[in-house]
Amino acid sequence: MPKKTIRDLDVRSKRVLVRVDFNVPLKDGTVLDDTRIQAALPTIQYLIDSGAKVILMSHLGRPKGKPDPAYKMDPVARRLEELLGRKVKKIDFCVGPEAEKAVGEMAEGDVLLLENTRFYPGETSSDPEFARELASLGDIFVNDAFGAAHRAHASTYGVAEYLPTAAGFLMEKEISIMDKILKEPERPLTAVVGGAKIADKMSVLLNFMNHVDYLVIGGGVANTFLKAMGYEVGKSLVEDEKILSAQEIIDSSKMNGVKLFLPEDVVIAKEIDPNAETKVVPVDSIPKNMMVLDIGPKTAKKYSEIIRSSNSAVWVGPMGVFEYDAFAGGTKAVAEAVASVPYSLVGGGDSAAAAEKMGVADRITHISTGGGASLKYLGGEELPGITVIMEKDPDKVELKN
Ligand code: 3PG
Repeated sequence: MPKKTIRDLDVRSKRVLVRVDFNVPLKDGTVLDDTRIQAALPTIQYLIDSGAKVILMSHLGRPKGKPDPAYKMDPVARRLEELLGRKVKKIDFCVGPEAEKAVGEMAEGDVLLLENTRFYPGETSSDPEFARELASLGDIFVNDAFGAAHRAHASTYGVAEYLPTAAGFLMEKEISIMDKILKEPERPLTAVVGGAKIADKMSVLLNFMNHVDYLVIGGGVANTFLKAMGYEVGKSLVEDEKILSAQEIIDSSKMNGVKLFLPEDVVIAKEIDPNAETKVVPVDSIPKNMMVLDIGPKTAKKYSEIIRSSNSAVWVGPMGVFEYDAFAGGTKAVAEAVASVPYSLVGGGDSAAAAEKMGVADRITHISTGGGASLKYLGGEELPGITVIMEKDPDKVELKN
């Protein structure tokens, strides 16, 4: 839990510089999915109601350190304005005279959105001068961008050097829910790990060894495990360089008393094609010219039973190529099962999308707004955007009383 949240600060009349993660998908100049904007509303609304001058900053996409019309924040400002039901002023800069002027004109409760922080090369390099310029716009820094907390950038990390710093409500919520799952879960706790690659999930798998009761594995991740166990996996996506890592997880699960489950049957096809001819085979009968694209129905049923018997579940990574109906059965079964567990957490961008697609999102306790950030946090890694809040010298934080 962060040491300081916005509740601890006196924000009235203060210029509060808030890092949010408004990195949202856009289409034809409008926001396609506003989940991340909605998730930041409690912090923004609280600051408005508390009489702060709310200066928001975020990155959007991956522009190369210079202005790029495709990644301007204007569509985000329009959507935020609709959601808040009040004016959001958007400017085309993050720093400099125009930014200073716009901030200087703000009244209590006003909301200002700066341009995409990644239009400046100093953002991703965390240039101290750019961070100092950003910080000069505010009296207090609030980090509410959990989704970008794994980046040590000027706006997520660098500004904290110059300002009293606290966590926003979204940051606080994300951390407390992940901590609850990892540190004091209602047991049994089941982890469901899938997705394309082990490489992205290795730290999560290793960390789960210290926390979970059951671990069920699917998706491309399972292929490497199956190969490690000596099965033929045909043309399936496999990370040969991770076979030893998979073996390490298998050994570690035995040592830690974690019950590890791998697919018993799989859905195979010759290619990733929505109309491909599919077949269900046991894992010891995968032909050389075919690839595994989903867990099979027997496995899906077994995984569902394990998940449903749990009191907590954490799900990272789909069980197959769920974008195509032919390979979505395993992910659907798992999604339904996770949604039935009393305390459920979905992390990693792909499984969040899968939970949405399977229509279970509103029955999950929490879907993390962080993709890479949630994987790193669940993997026990340090996130710079959180460290700056935790380690902030309390003497530099202005307390209410
Ligand atoms: C995300 O979408 O995961 C975050 O907004 C971080 O974006 P990035 O991977 O471009 O840093």
